[in-house]
Amino acid sequence: MLSTHSSAGRGGPPILGGHLHVTGGHLWVEHCDTVALAERFGTPLYVVSEAQLRANCQMLRAAFERHWPVGRVELLPSLKANYVLAIRELLNDEGVGCDVFGGNELNAALRAGVPAARISVNGSAKSAPLLRASVVAGANITLDSAYELESLLAIVTELGKTARIRLRIRPDHATLTERSDFFPDMAIRDAAQLYKPGIEPTTARALGRRALSHDRIELTGLMTHLGRHSADPGVWAKMAAGFGETVAELCNAWAPWRPRELDIGGGFPAPRDPTDPDRRPAQPIDRYAEGVAVALRSALVHGGIDPDGIVLQLEPGRSLFADAGLHLSRVCHVKTQTRPVASTWVEVDTTEMFMPDLLLEHAYFRPVFASRAESPDVAPVHIVGISCNFDLIARDVPAPRVVAGDIVAFLDTGAYQDAAASNFNVLARPGTVLVSGNRARLVKRHETLEEVLSRDEPRAPFTTL
Ligand SMILES: Cc1ncc(COP(=O)(O)O)c(C=O)c1O
Repeated sequence: MLSTHSSAGRGGPPILGGHLHVTGGHLWVEHCDTVALAERFGTPLYVVSEAQLRANCQMLRAAFERHWPVGRVELLPSLKANYVLAIRELLNDEGVGCDVFGGNELNAALRAGVPAARISVNGSAKSAPLLRASVVAGANITLDSAYELESLLAIVTELGKTARIRLRIRPDHATLTERSDFFPDMAIRDAAQLYKPGIEPTTARALGRRALSHDRIELTGLMTHLGRHSADPGVWAKMAAGFGETVAELCNAWAPWRPRELDIGGGFPAPRDPTDPDRRPAQPIDRYAEGVAVALRSALVHGGIDPDGIVLQLEPGRSLFADAGLHLSRVCHVKTQTRPVASTWVEVDTTEMFMPDLLLEHAYFRPVFASRAESPDVAPVHIVGISCNFDLIARDVPAPRVVAGDIVAFLDTGAYQDAAASNFNVLARPGTVLVSGNRARLVKRHETLEEVLSRDEPRAPFTTL
């Protein structure tokens, strides 16, 4: 393990920081000892820091406001990254809306009390019931195809209601020749064309005309989302320039229409950037904000569009949630061998199934030996999980002398890890604790075996077809 006090490399931020610190040999989140959290709530366990989440919200908003002085900045954090309802309620308190993908996310957002006017309903091949529910709730709909627009036109006509829509655009991104972190053998511009959402500009032009000709449709803006192909702020600036050029072209084709809002989606890296292939930390968020906002503004002006008054929206997922969360596990057993190669496996009671970005994005969630955070390292170990896979959560990490019962924390698991965890090996998924100062509450309980098996119908009768 990297020393908890060392720098994460290349002049980046210290490994701990924000609301994580070491006191009395233990890792703490705000004013809660993680060893005490593990004892009180059981492991494995997701932990989220309220203070870190709120600080991230404020920092993201402030960074983009600094560089987008021409209009308001709105955060629409991606619900998919973390849909624990209590956590979403904190975000309501911060005055932020959300991006939802599909009907169940819309339902969850409304249950958590997100005002409908602050919701952007995204999704692939949106069904008529989803479009109808969005119109009835009064949410904004981010359309992804002509098929969705035609379906929506029929719904608003039938309901006699107006729908606020935006078109999700996929610019050509011809200048993005840099390598994608998701697809290392591809340029971002090619990888972006594999990604199903978004409407290419020529089709968008026709769709916009159709939308603008209908009196029950209000076209309020345009949206795009590149995704975390790169942590280079220069790439983000190019992405924003490409979006701005496409927006200007569409505005000129639809004159005198002007967007009220432009939504640049998410994809900005989290500070320690667990997805970086070289394990380098990200640049400060201000660099991304500056790159994006300046390039977008200048592309609009260059295309003859005055950006004054345009609301800039962003949909952070990882950059908002990741470092507000960590995952706690307990050491079950330390297994060693001396031949044919000397190895030590620290077997913990969690798994990559509960941190699926280890597999999906080859992420690295830095381990911290939370109950021995100030003990000297003695030898490298592999930290392994309880599933039947390789389940190599962290490989070759310098470690202090560890025994069964010790607590290991994995950093930066606040985005997507709970949301995408699976029940492989009939494993019941962990609960989530929300820490606030020196208090903590279990805001999502641990799953039970009964719940894992609850959809099975072993004695279901056959139906003859
Ligand atoms: C439309 C949209 N917005 C925002 C996000 C959040 O992305 P990230 O977590 O990389 O910031 C996603 C993620 O896939 C997305 O699809």
